Amino acid sequence: ELRCVVAVDGPSGSGKSTVSRRLARRLDARYLDTGAMYRALTWAVLQAGVDLTDPDGIAKVAVDCELLIMTDPEHPSISVNGENVDAPIRGGEVTAAVSAVSAVPFVRQVLTARQRAIIEESDRIVVEGRDIGTVVAPDADLKVFLTASSAERARRRSAETAGDHAATEADLARRDHLDSTRKVNPLQQAADAVVLDSTELGIDEVVSELYRLLTTRK
Ligand code: C5P
Repeated sequence: ELRCVVAVDGPSGSGKSTVSRRLARRLDARYLDTGAMYRALTWAVLQAGVDLTDPDGIAKVAVDCELLIMTDPEHPSISVNGENVDAPIRGGEVTAAVSAVSAVPFVRQVLTARQRAIIEESDRIVVEGRDIGTVVAPDADLKVFLTASSAERARRRSAETAGDHAATEADLARRDHLDSTRKVNPLQQAADAVVLDSTELGIDEVVSELYRLLTTRK
């Protein structure tokens, strides 16, 4: 089997995580959720009591904190300084703060370097995020930009989190705006990305289409 890197980018609720995990299983590849890395660092920032408007304080946390990332698509997991944070990084506090932390240029530098190192040491890997095809792995074998209508994305997110629909839709819109307009590495479609809209397509159809694209590419 050849080395193979798949980059999956898109906004929150586009189905990125489910699609990326299933594709990784099908390819017998590793799975890297870069959003979980930004969330874990955000959890550490909140734990340290650092102000979200203090980029130097945030940068210091980024240097000091040790992330352990498990890339098995059956059991993806992340810990910070030995503490498993899989549950708290999905909570409201982290979700509300993550866009601010991920806008700090030094944070992106540190996490991008770590992501590239993980990709480098993997034979096959599916990497999901916001800037994978554009910045982290511009040489990926397949770049996918996954979208869905904002109503559908909010519906999926509130089903996942059992949260209030209107509040979820507002939070998604706020994060999409922050993530797309930040100065450093905003959410962007790579020029050579395959764009798939998952509003109408089922998850299985998206996974099958990506598998087909990968196995038929020259
Ligand atoms: O994908 P997820 O919703 O878990 O990502 C959480 C946040 O992490 C995003 O809203 C974004 O601010 C940040 N992120 C990023 N770059 C990535 C992945 C995530 O800035 N590659």
